[in-house]
Amino acid sequence: MNRSVAKYVLMALLASFSTVYAGNPPVTELQIDLKAPAKLFAPTYAGLMTEEINHSYDGGLYAELIRNRVFRDNETNADGWSISVPTNARATMSVTRDFPLTDKLPNSLQVDISKVATNHPILISNAGYWGIPVQPDTIYKVVFWAKGNNEWSSKWNGKHEGTNPPLPLFRSPLGISLKSADGAKVYATSESPALTGEWQKIELTLKTGHDVIASKENQFVISAAAPGFFNLSLVSLFPPTYKDRPNGTRTDLMEKLADLHPQFLRFPGGNYLEGDNLWERFDWKQMRGPLEFRPGHQCCWHYRSSDGFGLLEFMGWCEDLGMEPVLAVFAGYSMHQQPVCAGPLLDSYVQDALDEIEYLTGDAKSSHWGALRAKDGHPEPFKLKYIEIGNEDMFDKSKSYDGRFAQFYDAIKAKYPELQLIATIPVKSRKPDVVDDHFYRKPDAFVKDFHHYDHVDRNGPKIFVGEWATTGLDPWSKQSKSSTTPNFSQALGDAAWMCAMERNADLIVMQCYAPLLVNVNPDASQWKPNLIGYDALSSFVSPAWHAQALFNTHRGDSVAAANLTGESSAPDQQLCYSVTRDTAKGLIYIKLVNVQKVPREVKINLGEGVGIEPEAETIILHADNPDQLNSIEKPNAVVPVKGTIHNASSDFSVNVPANALMLLTLRLK
Ligand code: AHR
Repeated sequence: MNRSVAKYVLMALLASFSTVYAGNPPVTELQIDLKAPAKLFAPTYAGLMTEEINHSYDGGLYAELIRNRVFRDNETNADGWSISVPTNARATMSVTRDFPLTDKLPNSLQVDISKVATNHPILISNAGYWGIPVQPDTIYKVVFWAKGNNEWSSKWNGKHEGTNPPLPLFRSPLGISLKSADGAKVYATSESPALTGEWQKIELTLKTGHDVIASKENQFVISAAAPGFFNLSLVSLFPPTYKDRPNGTRTDLMEKLADLHPQFLRFPGGNYLEGDNLWERFDWKQMRGPLEFRPGHQCCWHYRSSDGFGLLEFMGWCEDLGMEPVLAVFAGYSMHQQPVCAGPLLDSYVQDALDEIEYLTGDAKSSHWGALRAKDGHPEPFKLKYIEIGNEDMFDKSKSYDGRFAQFYDAIKAKYPELQLIATIPVKSRKPDVVDDHFYRKPDAFVKDFHHYDHVDRNGPKIFVGEWATTGLDPWSKQSKSSTTPNFSQALGDAAWMCAMERNADLIVMQCYAPLLVNVNPDASQWKPNLIGYDALSSFVSPAWHAQALFNTHRGDSVAAANLTGESSAPDQQLCYSVTRDTAKGLIYIKLVNVQKVPREVKINLGEGVGIEPEAETIILHADNPDQLNSIEKPNAVVPVKGTIHNASSDFSVNVPANALMLLTLRLK
């Protein structure tokens, strides 16, 4: 038995026996009343929240491996690309606007070769998003556009006009390969057809061999061995994707998301929806259709988004994981204090939202936008129930949200009365169906606020806790020493908050952690913490992911009435709890979160006449060190441990270890 397994076995044993306390521990009793009316969970109770932040899509979930594939990350320099020119050869590369592929992709990479060296081609390479992952026995799809110079393009381009001798026309094939970063290992090669003088779409595959060892310190290489010049645009490399979806997602990340059993996806933000400036909002019309017509845009998290992961891709993600889409529409406010106040100027944004809803739900034959969706590859209309209007509009200093919300509400309800509309802050102008609350807090703050929703008016709008997470120091601070993924104490804070939310499932119809994804390379992230971490090759789940997965797989259909007595009076000392039921299976799930440094003995009382099987499963999430993280190197430093107790009954005691989440599953006789 290795040390970490032994540690967890000990934990499980500790959970089954009572402990001798140094002082006088509070006597705590959890009274559960299965006869009292239960609160039903909404079918959308637990979901995911996502936006482009921390390279969530580009360099993350979106499986594209080429960085800066349309040469727009920097308008004048080919960021992410490099050229290697052998001795005795002469060649340069540059970004040009002279040969646009489409009006949306005006830039291309121009490679000018005036002299080649025998047997040593010019190499143009891309290093991906902090590396290019290579796996054995894998087929990669390569798609790119290329054109050689022609009789008139040299003149038009100016660069080569009048050169003597005139530059030859580039009519050769290009070599394509996957190589190690130092060029020493070649994993797969292929060759394009000879280029012509016109743009040509080239599609190839690269297949790696059986003996290749998985690695990420690699490059994608295009080689050329003839003089002339050629241009490249939209250079793409995809590994196999989740469920083989074209333009799809990364399998390891999707599997980790699927294991959370999410019921909905809130997208596309977050701040990413709003943009820093109006022209940097999530403009969905620029993010649909063929990639050749997606210009990308500067996102508010300080990098350019390729927008390869656009509106239909979000919906594909929902389909793949069986999630209900919760679509946030841009509501006329960008974060640099740019409100478009209610009135005629807001009309076009309202129309954009109506068009977006029609694009997703409209009939493929009879509606304009539905027909475009069909043309984009999805003839079946999507089901849509929830629309969120904006994001965090409390930051709009002009206080224009009440009016903006009313204008969107009236237009959407008039056309789609069945849609449930979510406001981002309480409003007076209309009664929203749901209001979105966000919480980023330190662990003790969540524990102290355990009763936050207990007394909220049940006649008002339902609640969507659309972003929540236990933070360390400032989540956005580069100086913050806290990690990009949550440590164990943050997972415990989350568990306390999840208990607080579960107990109010009659009010809270949806809740989701944020942010979801982070590329853990230095400089890739803008926010701390985030639920799942990854680099180009590997990924891992945080302790907070484990806490969430435990809650999501041990929820059942309803919340049982429960009351804790005798707990310590100090709010940060309290034990957080939640009791839920799976009525069909006859299971009772008890979650106990002990944030104290000492174990707690808890009497569990279900009242007389309730038959409980003596054997019950326990799962404990614990780490000796509150700062303990999971990581690429140590993905399983914190994992839950299963055990069994044999003394469960309608009136029995359990020992909840110090600093732990304990989950008990009781079975009704
Ligand atoms: O989750 C990170 C950011 O926090 C979201 O984009 C924004 O809505 C919130 O302020």
